[in-house]
Amino acid sequence: MNLKSIIIAGKEILPLVEGGKGVNVSTGLTSGRWANCGGAGTFSGVNPDFIDENGNSIAPISFKGKNRIERQKELIEYGVKGCLDQARIAHEESKGNGLVFMNVLWEQGGSQELLKSVLEKAKGTIKAISCGAGMPFKLADICSENNVFYNPIVSSVRAFQLLWKRSYSRFKDWLGAVIYEDPWVAGGHNGLSNSDNPNAPEKPIQRLLEIRKFMNEVGLKSVPIIIAGGIWWLSEWLDYMDNEDIGPVGFQFGTRPMVTVESPLADTVKKKLLNVKKGDVKLQRFSPTGLYSSAVRNDFLKELEDQLERQIRFEEVMNFEKGFDVAVELSATGKTVYVNNADKEKLKSFIEKGYNKVMKTPDNTLIFVSEPRYKEIINDMKNCVGCLSACMFSGWSQKEGLNIKPDPRYFCIQKGLQGIAHTSDVEHNWLFAGQIVQRFFLDPFYKGGTFIPTIRQLFDRILTGY
Ligand SMILES: Cc1cc2nc3c(=O)[nH]c(=O)nc-3n(C[C@H](O)[C@H](O)[C@H](O)COP(=O)(O)O)c2cc1C
Ligand code: SF4
Repeated sequence: MNLKSIIIAGKEILPLVEGGKGVNVSTGLTSGRWANCGGAGTFSGVNPDFIDENGNSIAPISFKGKNRIERQKELIEYGVKGCLDQARIAHEESKGNGLVFMNVLWEQGGSQELLKSVLEKAKGTIKAISCGAGMPFKLADICSENNVFYNPIVSSVRAFQLLWKRSYSRFKDWLGAVIYEDPWVAGGHNGLSNSDNPNAPEKPIQRLLEIRKFMNEVGLKSVPIIIAGGIWWLSEWLDYMDNEDIGPVGFQFGTRPMVTVESPLADTVKKKLLNVKKGDVKLQRFSPTGLYSSAVRNDFLKELEDQLERQIRFEEVMNFEKGFDVAVELSATGKTVYVNNADKEKLKSFIEKGYNKVMKTPDNTLIFVSEPRYKEIINDMKNCVGCLSACMFSGWSQKEGLNIKPDPRYFCIQKGLQGIAHTSDVEHNWLFAGQIVQRFFLDPFYKGGTFIPTIRQLFDRILTGY
């Protein structure tokens, strides 16, 4: 198909972007090969693998630090090393074609420290930083200081307006592109706000028009908008191309490049993705960031869903009047709390089924889990490495004084993502994927879920419009 090139970060490229995918899903190899095809490839700066002196990819990392602060320090050091290695690989693999971006999650632990350190050392390899998940006000500042472009990822004009007014208007020349990520369908974390209905997806057109209108008003007419989320065949997006009201536009693919020869995921993971059917992918709120995210339903996600079903309200003190007179012992402390008489049968059935470990949530509810799951939760909380700036699961917070109560209804996303990136266990880890993942199985290109293309083959296929 006739695809119009766009200018990002001062360079004319094909309007196709590989989205950044942590942990270690989009790498120096995948992003470099994508760039080599003439688009922009984004390697993940979220705990990427680093390369040792023998050229081996190192992960998962073992930590020596005695507490979370020490372990987070190590994590950032490893992260910087990993980013520099992936940047070098991407640069080499691109062979000067296309563009190499790096992705940072603003809410990842120590994101600013990491970014500053990487950009100071990675001169000439990374053209732009794509960054979302939070409000990255300081992104423009840090990037422009290092002569690197920045691509904010937003899901509404409101978010971009805030960023623009408070910060980006002062660093206009370094704005490479605005990435609009559809918060209902994109893989990974999603930017659904409290006023968005998660069950009522909106087509991107309206939000794109609002973003472009604002961009035109503030003199950003020539800066492209990259649409991310739910893109499979470009032939389905013709209304968005050559559309004067939307202006220069590109397309970001996140889920589709996960199934390529270069993707570091194990074959079991690729096979799972190739065979996802309707209903197997879920927009939910289990991530310890507190954000919505889109992930494939596997045994682990089912367990988290089931945990919510095994939930009962409690009171700290016995309250006969309200019926809270059934004593239950908390497994961690042995302390007695009280559930309502009306929930007595429910409680009995949970215990009988082997869910005899009782954990408290910050919402005055109890959840009931099996012994192995209990041990896993306790260990994961204990082994926290502070990968997020604030974690709803372990209660870790980078900001002094902010006291979050741990909540066992969430999970350790660091462990879940490292597990999916580095093992073949596709059922007990966390598999992010966009809602569009179901199309692998339906698209004849993948021959009924049996064909894995190289990035070049995928790129060429996308260029046909299908
Ligand atoms: C496995 C996976 C991990 C992702 N991780 C990140 C991330 O760390 N940071 C980020 O900004 N976006 C992340 N994304 C979002 C992608 O970069 C991309 O915008 C999105 O997947 C596009 O939607 P699609 O999945 O429908 O193609 C991730 C997506 C997936 C599928
Ligand atoms: S518990 Fe896990 S997800 Fe939460 S901050 Fe610690 S390492 Fe990260």
